[in-house]
Amino acid sequence: MSNIILGIESSCDDTSAAVIKDGLLLSNVIASQSVHEAYGGVVPELASRAHQQNIVPVVSEAIKRAGIQKSDLDAIAFTAGPGLIGSLLVGTSFAKGLATALDIPLVNVNHLHGHVLSHFIKETEDTEVPEFPFMCLLISGGNSQIIIVHEYNKMEILGQTIDDAAGEAFDKCAKVIGLPYPGGPHIDKLAAIGDPNKFKFSKPHIPNLDYSFSGLKTSFLYTIRDAMKLNPNFIEENKADIAASLQKTIIDILIDKLGKAVAQHPEIKQVAIGGGVSANSGVRAAIADFCEKRNLKAFIPKRSFTTDNAAMVAIAGYFKYLDKEFCPLDIAPFARVEV
Ligand code: KG4
Repeated sequence: MSNIILGIESSCDDTSAAVIKDGLLLSNVIASQSVHEAYGGVVPELASRAHQQNIVPVVSEAIKRAGIQKSDLDAIAFTAGPGLIGSLLVGTSFAKGLATALDIPLVNVNHLHGHVLSHFIKETEDTEVPEFPFMCLLISGGNSQIIIVHEYNKMEILGQTIDDAAGEAFDKCAKVIGLPYPGGPHIDKLAAIGDPNKFKFSKPHIPNLDYSFSGLKTSFLYTIRDAMKLNPNFIEENKADIAASLQKTIIDILIDKLGKAVAQHPEIKQVAIGGGVSANSGVRAAIADFCEKRNLKAFIPKRSFTTDNAAMVAIAGYFKYLDKEFCPLDIAPFARVEV
């Protein structure tokens, strides 16, 4: 008998629904919200309203594209957090309503587990997936973590950010040089034509496997501000070099800790990356190189599975469903990290 799971993602500013059948992706529909562009960041109230408008058409489209009927679904998986609470409430309430109407189990998914388990989304039967245990560098807009994944539903956090996440470092620094939100993809593009060694920004000295990016943000801000006092055209004249140097610094910080984590865990033979920042070209190249030098197998996700998408929620929900880990109807979403 096959298992068909509908996944719903509404943690930030993308409304997404996906259908997975026995681990195989049948559909993945994403409606992005352009309403935030004018504000230089996501406006929570506007995000919830847009989710409210998008959720019914997005779910209907995912079911249609999957070539199934609502009555074929075996469970509804939804992102319970972390994220914007108003946005999460839309997906959570919708999932509860649909599961009740269809009289099928409801499965709560941690958004971060979704990013990690995105490597198990099969687009064809031949998709290669990691073997346990593997290490995952999770780098998104809200979190930076090094995790050992022991099983689908058993993860151990070795280190995480004590302040800003890698994505925040990209976005906040990008804002300083006048790039639109989210700045990460713009830095990525500019970095491709810049000199990564032109400018030096400070790196943190945290002894364990935790990350910190707020010092880099401050050093970046002061460097740019001082340079602008001497030359008001500094940013315009050096934009690509600034972007490339910033990207290199963030990558160095990420790779340095990952190196320590891998050295402490010789049993690990495979390293995966996940989360929005894993879409970054420099990060992807650095991870491939890191793994090749250490004879590790690298798992680098398809770009469409790096940012928020319901396919990863559906796959994480699928594995919880197989373990019969359902949730009650009175479950409440949560805003902050809870792994
Ligand atoms: O995983 P995600 O969609 O949201 C969270 O769950 O937090 O990640 C969003 C983050 C943003 O900070 C965005 O700037 C960053 O991912 N990002 C990138 C790139 N694409 C997205 N950062 C650097 N280079 C990229 N190409």
